[in-house]
Amino acid sequence: MDLEKIILKKSIGLSLSKEELTYAFNGYLLKKITDKEMTLLLKAICKNDMSDRETIDLVDIYINSGEKLNLNEIKGIKVDKHSTGGIGDKTSLIIGPIIAALGLKFVKMSGRGLGYTGGTIDKLESIPGFNVSLTKEEIIKQVNDIGMVITSQTENLVPLDKKIYALRDVTNTTKSIPLIAASIMSKKIVTGTSNVVIDIKVGSGALIEDMANAKRLSSLMIEIAKKYNIKVITIISDMDTPLGDNVGNALEVIEAIEVLKGKKGKLRDLCVNLAASLISLGKNIDINQANKLVLEVLNNGSAYNKYLEFIEYQGGNVKNIKISDRVNLIKASKEGTITEINALEVGKLVLEMGAGRKTKESNIDYGVGIKFKKHIGDKVNIGDIIMELYLAHSNFLYDINKIITIK
Ligand code: URA
Repeated sequence: MDLEKIILKKSIGLSLSKEELTYAFNGYLLKKITDKEMTLLLKAICKNDMSDRETIDLVDIYINSGEKLNLNEIKGIKVDKHSTGGIGDKTSLIIGPIIAALGLKFVKMSGRGLGYTGGTIDKLESIPGFNVSLTKEEIIKQVNDIGMVITSQTENLVPLDKKIYALRDVTNTTKSIPLIAASIMSKKIVTGTSNVVIDIKVGSGALIEDMANAKRLSSLMIEIAKKYNIKVITIISDMDTPLGDNVGNALEVIEAIEVLKGKKGKLRDLCVNLAASLISLGKNIDINQANKLVLEVLNNGSAYNKYLEFIEYQGGNVKNIKISDRVNLIKASKEGTITEINALEVGKLVLEMGAGRKTKESNIDYGVGIKFKKHIGDKVNIGDIIMELYLAHSNFLYDINKIITIK
């Protein structure tokens, strides 16, 4: 087979056979195909799309690139959630403890940041001592002991996704619906969890920018799940505006704690919705009943206690989390109402500040980020603080008008 012909075929909009997809993708995993060549193919896929058949073939190739994680030794009902990624999305850190406090098993393999969107693993690594690389035996023991785990993919779990994901992150090839579907669903399938909720983010700060694509991703994932006998619920949620008040790795861990301790708002509402969907799937109860249970463990502090237990079990200490002490206050320069906080521009800004990776080798600055003090719909006067920037350097230039609109 000839890679050049495969790339050409996709570049002119033709479908690839399973053999051609296998040749290209497995070849990349085996280092017979270079980053540069794979980037050409990924760009052609982004431009000309893939059929459902090609996507299902790709899921199969992804799954067979590594081992399947047999988690039968975990006692109880396993559930998992996944988000397609957004700005300020720290929902896993809140939902995991809720689920475990309610007696189900939350087994979550998370990723690092992708494009402008942050990743749960990067957030957890902002907690000094926290171990994100667990073995299968450690995962099983931890979930049996405390009911939850959040870890990065083990080395041999869908290694093809790991490699392609890292390349997509730095080559502007993150937005293809089939590539997202294959990446997420292959990881759900190999972990052997049979109840999954997928939070599909749509808006300027998400990988998926419009409703039509969000719906397509939803039906594609449901079709893949059916083939592999997994119960899946998809929820489409807004990502035109960052989720919650804080964006940036350590700042987001801190906000997750605040929500578990009782802070109200859009972030908490979404977490309740996602957690209730998981509880309803896992316990086979109706959503209203599940909702009540979720609110109970949030209100009585047991979800917060579970969070502390989880962080400590994986070696972290929340007391040692550090955020940058160089803070710039951004104030309103005119009177009016905030009509927009643009998630994409916020994502670009925090990436520029050092919260994400620009190349595969970049190091993250965990302590930088933004805290929003005002939200859409808030009225402001000249001089009111709208946001706080936690910076690594004092000579950092940015155009605030790109982020916030006051009318
Ligand atoms: N999350 C994933 O795991 N993969 C994607 O492609 C996008 C979000």
